[in-house]
Amino acid sequence: MEKVIIFDTTLRDGEQSPGASLNTKQKLEIAHQLSALGVDVFEAGFPASSPGDFEAVSLIAKKVKGPIICGLARALRKDIDICFNAIKHSKKRRIHTFLATSPIHMKYKLKLTPNEVLRRAVDAVKYAKSKTFDVEFSPEDAARSESDFLCRVVEAVIDAGATTVNIPDTVGYSIPSEFGELIARLFARVPNINKAVISVHCHNDLGLAVANSLAAVMNGARQVECTINGLGERAGNASLEEIVMCLRTRKKFFNLSTGIKTTEISKTSKLVSSLTGMIIQPNKAIVGNNAFAHEAGIHQHGVLARSSTYEIMTPQSIGLKASSLVLGKHSGRHAFEKKLRELGIRLTPGEFEKAFKDFKTLADKKKDIYDEDIESIIEDELSQSGEKRMYELENIFISSGTGMKPVARIKLKKGNKSFSAEASGDGPVDSSYKAVDKIISQKFKLIDYSVKSISIGKDAVGEAMIRLNYKGKTFFGRGTSTDVIEASVKAYLSAINKVLRK
Ligand code: KIV
Ligand code: ZN
Repeated sequence: MEKVIIFDTTLRDGEQSPGASLNTKQKLEIAHQLSALGVDVFEAGFPASSPGDFEAVSLIAKKVKGPIICGLARALRKDIDICFNAIKHSKKRRIHTFLATSPIHMKYKLKLTPNEVLRRAVDAVKYAKSKTFDVEFSPEDAARSESDFLCRVVEAVIDAGATTVNIPDTVGYSIPSEFGELIARLFARVPNINKAVISVHCHNDLGLAVANSLAAVMNGARQVECTINGLGERAGNASLEEIVMCLRTRKKFFNLSTGIKTTEISKTSKLVSSLTGMIIQPNKAIVGNNAFAHEAGIHQHGVLARSSTYEIMTPQSIGLKASSLVLGKHSGRHAFEKKLRELGIRLTPGEFEKAFKDFKTLADKKKDIYDEDIESIIEDELSQSGEKRMYELENIFISSGTGMKPVARIKLKKGNKSFSAEASGDGPVDSSYKAVDKIISQKFKLIDYSVKSISIGKDAVGEAMIRLNYKGKTFFGRGTSTDVIEASVKAYLSAINKVLRK
């Protein structure tokens, strides 16, 4: 069976989602998980875009084994140099260079003639090829490019040494039959097309990214660029889990396979969601909370009699399992270490000590500890690690109830100094956020707030995610606790710490 190469761009296009920025440590964690998931290639970042991106791509190239590590570069020699310097530490590396080919981009953005674009594309590919063998070229906005010109560019960059040519629907404008025809036309008209892998990269502005990618695959594309949970610019990219599960569930129809270990999908999706703060809608295909939930009685009856009546794939196939009770107050270091290994979590000795201490604190508050609780302890660490914490919550006291004015008294720590404040608002969260604002002497605009339980039971750990706006920029914060008000304050502080670091 022929294989479709899965190229993940969560760490590059995905990270371009507004408010989804990740620090280096978090990117490295996601990169390790993408390797466990079995992606063939992943784009680790855009090294020339910032020193932070360069640092993250270099670290990933040094540490992550398995997939090809790709870096993005504009079709400029200086970008290609920076990109190569970041990925050179990996034995399996790729430079992905791009230049727009649509009339609107060439005229208004690049201010270049088609011939100049063609020359620059060829020069960039040749230059990248002088650095490394594996070179990908993308004619940006290919779906709106003029057909003859696109064919000329594809032929020329393959002659120049591109091993993969990626056809992006940059603005998510295409319709599946039309996009499929575009790929078929390239195969019919570009004489050297079989010397490169043809890839696609579809955006989801009309909700058609997955359908367009699959239409391309049916017409010969053998690489799909996609992201976990469909993250990406604006409405996002084609979702990796949807592409992969579609090819797997309809194997007989497509007669194509992927190298993805599908049982890692759920874990990868949760990790990306909690580190980026991009919440997954409950009815999202494959990884939404309701994707395998059967509400109607008639459906439940059918599924109990035989799951295939209403389930076209099993929850187990994406790695979903019933919450398992794992540890409790009396579990020791050995049991905790064994559980981390089972969950595929790698920690340094220092991180292990911190996580074990947090686990013991949680076990004092909560009788039963589930896999999800352990994962949340680790994610909590990750969402703040690698960054200096400015303010930390020392303690909180709330009085609130029917018919009384809520009051929050908060004590924060910064270095070895403590600060306290009291405030009253229209509820316990509002009061505590006002108390925090008093201490920090700044006002932040809260634009999004959500709280959900991580595991099961009334004593479950609550996870709060917030977004706030400060001077036109969005900052994400996450906090967990068995007390949802405490979780909410931690989330608020985690976002404020990011603002203050900036
Ligand atoms: O959407 C797009 O065109 C891109 C390119 C850089 C491939 O992200
Ligand atoms: Zn894109």
